[in-house]
Amino acid sequence: MGFPTVRMRRLRRLKSFRDMVAETQLSVKDFIYPMFAVFGRSKKEEIPSMPGIYRYSVDCIGEEARETFQLGIPAVIVFGIPEHKDPEGTGAYDKNGIAQQAVMAIKDAVPEMIVIADVCMCEYTSHGHCGILTEKGEVDNDKTLEKLATTAVSLAEAGADMIAPSDMMDGRVAAIRSALDETGFSHVPVMSYAAKYASAFYGPFRDAAESAPAFGDRRGYQMDPRNADEALREVELDLEEGADIVMVKPALAYLDVIRRVKEKFGVPLAAYNVSGEYSLVKAAGKMGWIDEEKVMMEILYSIKRAGADLILTYFAKDAARILAS
Ligand code: PBG
Repeated sequence: MGFPTVRMRRLRRLKSFRDMVAETQLSVKDFIYPMFAVFGRSKKEEIPSMPGIYRYSVDCIGEEARETFQLGIPAVIVFGIPEHKDPEGTGAYDKNGIAQQAVMAIKDAVPEMIVIADVCMCEYTSHGHCGILTEKGEVDNDKTLEKLATTAVSLAEAGADMIAPSDMMDGRVAAIRSALDETGFSHVPVMSYAAKYASAFYGPFRDAAESAPAFGDRRGYQMDPRNADEALREVELDLEEGADIVMVKPALAYLDVIRRVKEKFGVPLAAYNVSGEYSLVKAAGKMGWIDEEKVMMEILYSIKRAGADLILTYFAKDAARILAS
């Protein structure tokens, strides 16, 4: 029929033509690889619900980071899983805490690697919520801000190149920004989990980090999946508070949000291709129900096409190998 269809058909015939006119580029430089650190020695434990993803002890994590860097992946985000948890989450800002030690070990092994430190209380609190609780069992926003700021500074002191608050407390970007500025870390950027939804897609991560809330859920501080205008307001506030990079999380069920944030603000934008999105593909791939590699690449392209500049993904190493081949 019409001209345009015919023209695209000519250009679709050959791979070299398709590559030439492809609208979306995906590069290994877009990836941020999440890593989990645990106490102990010589540990490399696979996370049951996330095949191919491991928890590493500090003595092993540097080697894994080196391998990641050699694949061309420029950045990792580090999550610590402490040995002891308490109501105040003191392990989060301990100088010798697990995340602090992991950051040091990775910077030691691969100084060129960009090491991003996730900042949140949920892995460190015995109740599993993202902050300090009031007597009534609700998260105390303002008390939590102090702890988050202290945690951010301790991670910067350990050598973190970037701080990524994932807690969704109000005012945390400003609190962390001013704490970093006051302690000589004004050069350290903040990547905020700006639009973070209360999502069931985090299930496998919570297994990995042993961070499922002991009671209740996170709907009091994370966003309702039915809302997108609200995401724009969250992003705007985080930018006003000083965020350098904003993030939408999860990615796949929120591609419209990624697109709207990119169009409205035009700032560096990250998307978190979260644990549940990874596990679904891995499980169906294992069953032989989908072509795992093709689905993985299609997902990563879709996140890029939606407008993300950076993708936090457990697929980073697998995708890097495919992009290089
Ligand atoms: C909170 C945090 C979570 C994830 C990243 N940072 C869990 C949560 O909010 O419950 C989830 C990432 C994933 O599912 O891959 N520290």
